[in-house]
Amino acid sequence: MRAFALSGPCGTLVRMSAERPEHIVRPAAATDAEAIAGVHIRSWQSAYRGMLPDEYLDGLDPVARGRWWRTQLDHPDWGTTWVATVEDAVVGFLSLGPSRDEDADPRTLEIFSVYLEPSLFGSGVARDLMRTALAELPARASVTLWTAAENERSRHFYRRHGFSPDGTERIEEIGGTELPEVRYRRG
Ligand SMILES: CC(C)(COP(=O)(O)OP(=O)(O)OC[C@H]1O[C@@H](n2cnc3c(N)ncnc32)[C@H](O)[C@@H]1OP(=O)(O)O)[C@@H](O)C(=O)NCCC(=O)NCCS
Repeated sequence: MRAFALSGPCGTLVRMSAERPEHIVRPAAATDAEAIAGVHIRSWQSAYRGMLPDEYLDGLDPVARGRWWRTQLDHPDWGTTWVATVEDAVVGFLSLGPSRDEDADPRTLEIFSVYLEPSLFGSGVARDLMRTALAELPARASVTLWTAAENERSRHFYRRHGFSPDGTERIEEIGGTELPEVRYRRG
């Protein structure tokens, strides 16, 4: 995934509205693993409440999730992750890499995850993460992603960034519940 690495080491500084602090979007480092895991869990607990069982969401383990993230970040072949930070604290992230779908062309890319600290939903931080990732892609790259069919907020967000449903659906079993998902595609 070297082709998608940002050329500068410092990331992009974005000045937000007067009420909100500045955020920076930069490539993730392995040392971000635990902070990413914390955002990942809090964002799941907010977005999937009512879709997945409370016991499952409340039992998500930050230590195990942090270990998982460290493994991914240590293996760049898996993909590239960008984080958004506010005053050095990770508040969001986006991961992208080769598509894991069986029917995918080898050049197809997949956005594996985009998650924000719930207090920053609607702040523009996710928009900057998405714009940064998309700007790093080869021209006309085909990018897919999966999202829960019921996740209206994420579906709206993806449409805003040029993705549309490609007609493929699947059922994921998560926490003992069957979660219908839809695939979106851009390019
Ligand atoms: C998905 C996510 C990254 C998007 O970031 P965000 O800051 O919330 O996105 P934005 O506010 O820029 O865009 C969301 C859009 O959905 C709209 N929206 C909000 N709630 C909605 C709802 N219940 N139904 C439909 N649209 C909704 C917003 O008004 C906005 O539309 P606009 O751009 O036309 O104003 C963020 O919400 C998040 O982390 N969610 C939890 C994790 C998640 O679901 N990740 C995706 C997994 S596939």
